[in-house]
Amino acid sequence: PAESGWVATRLHQYQGFWHTTRQLQGVLACQAHFQAQDSDILLITTPKSGTTWLKALTFAVLNRNTHNPKLAQAQAQAQDHPLLTTNPHVLVPFLELDLYLRKNKNPDLTSLPSPRLLASHLPYVSLPESAKKLGCKIVYLCRNPRDAFVSMWHFTNRLRPESRGRNSLEETFDKFCRGVSLYGPFWEHVLGYYEESKKRPEEIKFLRFEEMKEKPNEVLKDVAEFMGCGFSEEEEKSGVIGEILKLCSFENLSNLEVNKSGKLWSGEENKAFFRRGEVGDWENLLTPKMIQCLDAITEEKLGKHGLKL
Ligand code: A3P
Repeated sequence: PAESGWVATRLHQYQGFWHTTRQLQGVLACQAHFQAQDSDILLITTPKSGTTWLKALTFAVLNRNTHNPKLAQAQAQAQDHPLLTTNPHVLVPFLELDLYLRKNKNPDLTSLPSPRLLASHLPYVSLPESAKKLGCKIVYLCRNPRDAFVSMWHFTNRLRPESRGRNSLEETFDKFCRGVSLYGPFWEHVLGYYEESKKRPEEIKFLRFEEMKEKPNEVLKDVAEFMGCGFSEEEEKSGVIGEILKLCSFENLSNLEVNKSGKLWSGEENKAFFRRGEVGDWENLLTPKMIQCLDAITEEKLGKHGLKL
């Protein structure tokens, strides 16, 4: 075990990746019991890479025929759209952090409507065997490590103010670089899915937060297609892609009452998941030396695989 730089708690290394004691219980239970189905859609991400956004978008895409994503209409219909009244983490639970940790060690997930939309931060090596072997689909999302680190730094400081000051930025950064972070090492996590996505592109879609920000229309169309519910020409003409993007935008979600005031079962405030939602905030926290250090690791670990973050 190693003392974490993120939170004042112990981290344990399991299958090469770092977890808190509690998180590891969920990981083990999930590995032992989760049975993937061919129709499953798993959203897997590195922490603080835009999971909340991806959950909202994919939920809205999947449910667009039942719940009209058009904002004005949704609001007029007494806030009919679930995303207007429910935090995305409630609509799309994490396997090892919600389902296999919260209720019991082996919840019955067979009655969830198909396709099941589920999330996880599990590294590829720790995925339950059925999720690796069966034909379920994985949408993997990561982010430039500079912004992912900065986002996590703010998230944990805000979440647990009592731990603020216990770990300096320098110390936490140093640990991140050495791979000691929640679900870290960051680079190995990314690489695990990147390599698999090259072998099985029909089953693993590899995404980066930056490309979602840069060309959201294109990415959303592509993801919907990948999920098996692509947009028809008619839908495209009707502007449904734009409506979904608007519904799930940082501006919209972060200003909803539920996300300004609510809490998750685990005690995390919903608003903690919405900070700036931009690319490049690392400029405001990291020193030139830190940036150089991160970039060198990224180049060393990912460069030879042809991956740029
Ligand atoms: P910042 O801290 O850089 O603002 P996760 O959802 O994986 O925990 O990631 C959180 C990051 O995604 C935060 O980044 C948060 O602000 C950003 N985010 C949350 N909702 C978003 C949205 N709808 N659009 C863009 N970014 C969003």
